[in-house]
Amino acid sequence: MVFPTETVYGLGADATNQEAIDSVYKVKGRPTGHPLIVHISDVLFLAEWARDVPEYAMKLSNIFWPGPMTLVLPRTELAKNFITGGQDNVALRIPSHPVALELLKEFEKLGGLGVAAPSANRFGKVSPTTALAVEIELGEYLSNSDLILDGGTSKVGVESTIIDCTSELPVILRPGGVTAEMIQEVLEVELDLGFVANKETKVPGMLLSHYSPNAKVFLSGTPLPGDGFIALSHIPTPEKVIRLASPINVKEYAQQLYSAFRLADSKRLKKIFVRPPTGKGLAIAVNDRLTKAAYDT
Ligand code: TXA
Ligand code: MG
Repeated sequence: MVFPTETVYGLGADATNQEAIDSVYKVKGRPTGHPLIVHISDVLFLAEWARDVPEYAMKLSNIFWPGPMTLVLPRTELAKNFITGGQDNVALRIPSHPVALELLKEFEKLGGLGVAAPSANRFGKVSPTTALAVEIELGEYLSNSDLILDGGTSKVGVESTIIDCTSELPVILRPGGVTAEMIQEVLEVELDLGFVANKETKVPGMLLSHYSPNAKVFLSGTPLPGDGFIALSHIPTPEKVIRLASPINVKEYAQQLYSAFRLADSKRLKKIFVRPPTGKGLAIAVNDRLTKAAYDT
């Protein structure tokens, strides 16, 4: 079942059912061995999936869950290799979208323990932030018994912050809505902010190319007539260039980025010129996605 979350839409399946998970990989076209995030409705379910949870991870979970944060923790036996990609740790998240929480609770009432869900896009492509985008992206791969729950437009717009909690200090593997500054403030520690993925962990979000529209993305240079353009609202549109988004701040930038990419593809544009937001906070996550979208393979 596809369901809305506050970050992006997810393609969900019973995290304990290998057959269901296999079909998620098939629909997504994702290479096997890439681990999935298990979504739960309540921190009570944490102990089903994770062990040796460090104190700082409990603190983070108390403050930022439900919300756009995923914690990577040592796994219990419930987290099978088909979820973790064979790693000894598992990624967990409590989303805050009311429809997601309702779905998870209903599933748990039936005896379910967690819903594994990657973003509901084809592998390497742009994550969907609306139900319509899911239908366009995955419609032809879904079967008649698969459902898409429509929960409106995702409010954060970029995927969750992934934090590796398997060492003494947290490491940000993927920047997102819960920012490094927010984490540092809560934990009162200095983090290595150059979010460096542990070389042994497989994080497709850490591939150099990802989140890519069909159009080619440029982070510098001047657009020509007919090219697409994404920039903060105070930056004017060059003449005869197609404005794809005019966010007023970085929060809106994150919210609108993926739909702007999709708009470019629906208009069959060849090139998108982007003026990235500057600064820290959420701008780090936006720039991470932009750099990967622009990566020339
Ligand atoms: O906001 C989100 O996180 C969305 C919504 C649906 O929750 N989900 C999402 O899932 O972005 P996906 O599969 O598209 O990206 C999850 C990322 C992948 O890069 C994966 O490698 C990483 O999480 N991941 C999953 N399990 C992991 C683990 N045990 N260790 C390290 N990274 C892990
Ligand atoms: Mg994804």
